[in-house]
Amino acid sequence: MKLFDVYPLNDITIVKAKGSYVWDNNGEQYLDLYGGHAVISIGHTHPHWVKRIEEQLEKIAFYSNSVRIPLQQQLSDKLGKISGKEDYQLFLCNSGAEANENALKLASFHNGRSKVVAFSKSFHGRTSLAVAVTDNKNYVAPVNESDHVIFLPFNDEDALEECFEKRGKQISSVIIEGIQGVGGIHVAEDSFLRKIRSLCDKYGAVYIADSVQCGYGRTGKFFSHDFAGVNADIYTLAKGMGNGFPVAGIIIAPHIKPKHFMLGTTFGGNHLACAAALAVLEIIEEEKLMGNAVMVGKYLKDQLEEIQELKNIRGRGLMIGFDVPEELKDLKKNLLWNQKIFTGESKPNVIRILPSLALKKRDAEQFIDSIKEEIGVLTTEKV
Ligand SMILES: Cc1ncc(COP(=O)(O)O)c(C=O)c1O
Repeated sequence: MKLFDVYPLNDITIVKAKGSYVWDNNGEQYLDLYGGHAVISIGHTHPHWVKRIEEQLEKIAFYSNSVRIPLQQQLSDKLGKISGKEDYQLFLCNSGAEANENALKLASFHNGRSKVVAFSKSFHGRTSLAVAVTDNKNYVAPVNESDHVIFLPFNDEDALEECFEKRGKQISSVIIEGIQGVGGIHVAEDSFLRKIRSLCDKYGAVYIADSVQCGYGRTGKFFSHDFAGVNADIYTLAKGMGNGFPVAGIIIAPHIKPKHFMLGTTFGGNHLACAAALAVLEIIEEEKLMGNAVMVGKYLKDQLEEIQELKNIRGRGLMIGFDVPEELKDLKKNLLWNQKIFTGESKPNVIRILPSLALKKRDAEQFIDSIKEEIGVLTTEKV
């Protein structure tokens, strides 16, 4: 059987990983500033994470949500404490799309409405409603098209206000990434998030903070939405939550009440996933990784701003993006093949930096030296 060919692949086979480094089957070492797409939060194969999963595996890996799983409550307590949302409630699932799917559905159960406001360049996942609120026609099959979704321009307070004035009582929820990831690292303005909060309060809509990519401490705060000084009603989580172990969740404000069977999943919240997620939070806390994200992120941004060929350096903490001019379009490829550095991208011309929150300053320095060298080569070739 062939693999279903949906991913454009780099011809590299990674066989080993440690911290911010990965190695291929020829023993070549790469610096990982992509984090497997913002997934690696505490660093690859962190010994505490490995030990926690191994020990759990020896006891029990899985049993269904029909019995008590105390690890879920331990995870919930720890998550509440670190995120500062101790009065919220946790529902566990398996992926970012599933988290958003559940958030949108729960909002609709809660207020009995069906319209959802989403924004230009948003990405919320590949499943039915998650992809319907994603602003990319290539991902939306005819069966996913929904007239429940209202797309508005990102960061446009007037458009949002006007939409609520016209249809406020039909709007179930507003879903927004604190920093758009796939769309190209676009930061939601604090005043825009505050406007969402006040309009949701006024009209009884649910504010859903998609924190799948920008959450889990990546920006230096647990949720990037925290910069605006507002609380969302539901936060969705995935990627960094398991450091590569598939685990996701939504955290839900206390005024949204649960009912048996309104949400559910077979695998979500299994013993092994909880052990992995607990290990991640323990390391984030113990190694002060949110502080590290602020420090190394600032260093990277400051240094990138000094490189005049790169434009619009943006982002927060260790979620950074910049525009690459047409004449340097091979930069990402050359960083990978010549310098052995993985970076992320956003078509057509954005490089995204999404490393482990434990990235060391010396690794950031290596990246800056490498990028300068490759820009030098590319600009000399053009002369
Ligand atoms: C902001 C955001 N939401 C949702 C998703 C979907 O997550 P998953 O691929 O785990 O379904 C992603 C994935 O890139 C994302 O960046």
